[in-house]
Amino acid sequence: MAKDQIRAGRLDAQRSKEIEDYLSSMEADKQISSSDIRVDMAHILMLEKQGFIDKQSAKKLLSALNKYMDEGLPADAFDVDREDIHAGIEAVLINDAGADAGGRMHLGRSRNDEVATCLKMRTRELILETLSGTFELRRALISRAEENLNTIMPGFTHLQHAQPTTLAHYLLAYENLFSRDSARLFDAYARLNKSPLGSAAFAGTGFDLDRNLTADYLGFISPVENSMDAVANRDFIVETISDLAILMTNISRMCEELILWSTAFVKFVNLNDAYCSTSSIMPQKKNPDTLEIMRAKSAAVIGELTAALTLIKSLPMSYNRDLQDLNPHLWNAFKQTNSSLPLLAEIIDTAEFDETAMKKQAKAGNTTATELADHLVREYGLPFRTAHNIVGRAVKLGSLDLKTVEEAAKETAKISLVEKGLTDTEISNVLNPKDIIKHKKTYGSPNPRLMKKAVQAADVRLVQDEVTSDMMSDQLSEADEKIKSAISEL
Ligand code: ARG
Repeated sequence: MAKDQIRAGRLDAQRSKEIEDYLSSMEADKQISSSDIRVDMAHILMLEKQGFIDKQSAKKLLSALNKYMDEGLPADAFDVDREDIHAGIEAVLINDAGADAGGRMHLGRSRNDEVATCLKMRTRELILETLSGTFELRRALISRAEENLNTIMPGFTHLQHAQPTTLAHYLLAYENLFSRDSARLFDAYARLNKSPLGSAAFAGTGFDLDRNLTADYLGFISPVENSMDAVANRDFIVETISDLAILMTNISRMCEELILWSTAFVKFVNLNDAYCSTSSIMPQKKNPDTLEIMRAKSAAVIGELTAALTLIKSLPMSYNRDLQDLNPHLWNAFKQTNSSLPLLAEIIDTAEFDETAMKKQAKAGNTTATELADHLVREYGLPFRTAHNIVGRAVKLGSLDLKTVEEAAKETAKISLVEKGLTDTEISNVLNPKDIIKHKKTYGSPNPRLMKKAVQAADVRLVQDEVTSDMMSDQLSEADEKIKSAISEL
């Protein structure tokens, strides 16, 4: 192909392959090549409508772009000596539509507004993919929770047995966490959904471009207000990576939990063999490798966030070439997150939870002690702190039977609970985890009656989120249809 069409005027020296490779964003730009074709189409349609390009040239350009859309871009568009995909597509267009028509496309435009527009378009698509992954995960958690409203297990604080709860309560806690991740991604999408196109290098242009029209063709709600902000803004990328890093951190917590639950110490879960590996020497081993790798992927996404923040923090207005190096961090953050989400959903879908092991542990470590203290308050009118001290001392003395509780009461509060009427049967009734959970009164607690409603609420919220995200992807398809029909009208 001919000499680089952008450098041809201003610069003489040809660049070495090393310099070209070093500067080119071509590899990462594969993510935005399809967005760039649509950006070119929208821009040309608008130029034609505004009378800045003749119909014949517009037709030539659009028919070549249509061909690229259907059959893929010519390999030359990805040549690294073209710096980036924007220059690459312009070069193949000049080749295919002729230098006159091809040379007219870039009027009133810069790669600065062009790349910002492409990045936002691709980010929208990938956010929709991430959202759908969070939905799959939430669906798995909700349906396993529904099956396990009455599965009693211990809950932990400080990783010590704390109080009895249910598996449904546990799983819905994670569902709630991931529903906030979905919400954050919806927010990021809404905030970024304005079009930079028509901002040119940063200061707009003397050609009367219709920015509303191109925004509409590309599915944005409006043009970005300030043309300098339009080309310089990458906080939408930092915000998106932040959301992904938070999401992956949440995923990592859940991985850690499941890894712990799958150990021979705990044995709350038996993971499906498909997600596990064995040892080359120890024939008995079943290792939770998929969860371990997933926990590790979260580190990569957190790393991408750190890189993104550090890259941007010292960049003055408006466009700086450094920004090009931000993009791979975004693509990798999406790659790691979007490959993890469906796997975790499957792992949860196929996990066998061991109800017996959970039940056995539900009382271990005196998880019912709080309930006994509460009982002493309810039945014998003790101040909570007195009751807390009596039960605490009984635990220290080694048992929650009547004899020990009485001894503890005398020792710490100088009272006799036996004289007040406390009996052994009463204590053992109070210490039944199933009853404790059934009698929970507060909103959000594991009481199966309340958890059943919580499952329904989570389900409704999930369906609403799915409908919203379907509407968002419909808007993108409608925009594509608008471009198509504008092209065929021409
Ligand atoms: N490849 C560049 C990027 O990703 C496109 C914008 C280039 N702009 C420029 N003024 N050199 O940021």
